[in-house]
Amino acid sequence: MATTTSAKPSETLAFAQKLAPALQRGGVIALSGELGSGKTQFVKGLADGLGYMGEVTSPTFTLIHEYLGGLMPLYHFDFYRIENEDEVIDIGIEDYLASDGVCVIEWADKFPALLPEHTRWFQLSITGDNRRSITERK
Ligand SMILES: Nc1ncnc2c1ncn2[C@@H]1O[C@H](COP(=O)(O)OP(=O)(O)OP(=O)(O)O)[C@@H](O)[C@H]1O
Ligand SMILES: [Mg+2]
Repeated sequence: MATTTSAKPSETLAFAQKLAPALQRGGVIALSGELGSGKTQFVKGLADGLGYMGEVTSPTFTLIHEYLGGLMPLYHFDFYRIENEDEVIDIGIEDYLASDGVCVIEWADKFPALLPEHTRWFQLSITGDNRRSITERK
């Protein structure tokens, strides 16, 4: 699996920005990795790459943030505080997954069974003060 090293936050951002042109409506990006490994930074890059101009913050309490106005809608989930699959279904994830936008999910590995086969998985790890590794896995 390909691993990229990021030496600073802007490199994590740039990595995700570069993915944006390859995104298709209905696409799903699943992020996993410890606290502070850069998952939200990654989402900022995706949003930026899609041309979304607004603020990107982790939907830790609100469960979902919708970023509209870019090339296609980006739906940002964070499973960190979610305790079971039923809660995820209550948020309406199935509708978002079936929509014409892209879904990106932090802590996706908590409930992997809810995500479709075509999901692209990225594992982020802290490898130093400002160093992170980003590995795409299947
Ligand atoms: N190379 C790097 N890439 C990404 N973030 C970095 C890097 N170096 C340092 N950082 C810092 O690490 C933190 C990453 O925070 P971020 O909120 O993106 O992590 P997270 O994985 O979303 O955490 P959480 O699990 O709490 O949601 C930021 O404070 C950022 O400035
Ligand atoms: Mg986060």
